[in-house]
Amino acid sequence: GGGGGGEDAAASYPDGDITFVVPFSAGGPTDTVTRLIAEPMSAELGQPVVVQNVEGAGGTIAAGQVASAEPDGYTVLMHHIGMSTAPSLYSDLPYAPLEDFKTVGLVTEVPMTIVARNDLEPTTLEELVAYVQENQDTVTIANAGIGAASQLCGLLFQQATDTTLTEVAYEGTGPALTDLVGGQVDIMCDQTTNTTGQIQSGEIKGYAVTTPERVESLPDLPTTEEAGLPDLQVGVWHGLYVPTETPDAIVEELTAALQVALTDQNVIDQLAELGATPVPEEDATPEAHTEQLSSQIDLWQPIIEEAGVSAD
Ligand code: MLT
Repeated sequence: GGGGGGEDAAASYPDGDITFVVPFSAGGPTDTVTRLIAEPMSAELGQPVVVQNVEGAGGTIAAGQVASAEPDGYTVLMHHIGMSTAPSLYSDLPYAPLEDFKTVGLVTEVPMTIVARNDLEPTTLEELVAYVQENQDTVTIANAGIGAASQLCGLLFQQATDTTLTEVAYEGTGPALTDLVGGQVDIMCDQTTNTTGQIQSGEIKGYAVTTPERVESLPDLPTTEEAGLPDLQVGVWHGLYVPTETPDAIVEELTAALQVALTDQNVIDQLAELGATPVPEEDATPEAHTEQLSSQIDLWQPIIEEAGVSAD
């Protein structure tokens, strides 16, 4: 917890607008999840929640900004798996995930999908693999910058297919998807919370989901394991964070509101339509998320190091 002033502030918290900082573009997958839970969290906290998109450097600009924000509970970061990969990708990262934040809790688990512009020839993952291997000089793969989930998945895809593709970075996969639909870029690996609608409507091609199980809202998509790339496994998760000096009493209020939001039927239904699930209550806690974040950092570090990828 904080000092004396912090405890006074904690007693009256919340008493004003709370800003949820999203590290990627409006309309994209992180933004979608944030806006979904912001509404019931705002109702529970009794204060407006304002969503602010702070884009750039694969989500690390926003995280750096929140790490050094006032630790008063009025600036909250929504981030994802990139919290765990950025330390291995950036040598000059302006924050340390475990030291400079308190976790509020995990929020959701989101499968990823391998997708392509609609007029790309391959219709199955097997055909796509052969296609990128034959055409690796020309195939472009979109992502949301180094530190994004799409960048991590794209890296795993290139490793699994033994290819080196041209990466095209956007400030979020919202605008990347727009370009994929428009045919300006060839393929992408992106969260179901962004791609489900366009796969269902046939605006883009979907090849596989990157999780061990199929996704109910996209029943025709095989898993990467079923479709021949068993090593391509990645599940995105989202979490909420506040600056590390934030009093524990304030974190507790945010965690309680998060837990209420995750049992909201509208949130559950809308996430399910987008292939995602809210985490169980026991994971929507600072303790559970801190432990999970720490093990995710340990999981991805050697994989990123072996790939030799760096933002520097
Ligand atoms: C976004 O919100 O744009 C995504 O989460 C980007 C990504 O991590 O691929």
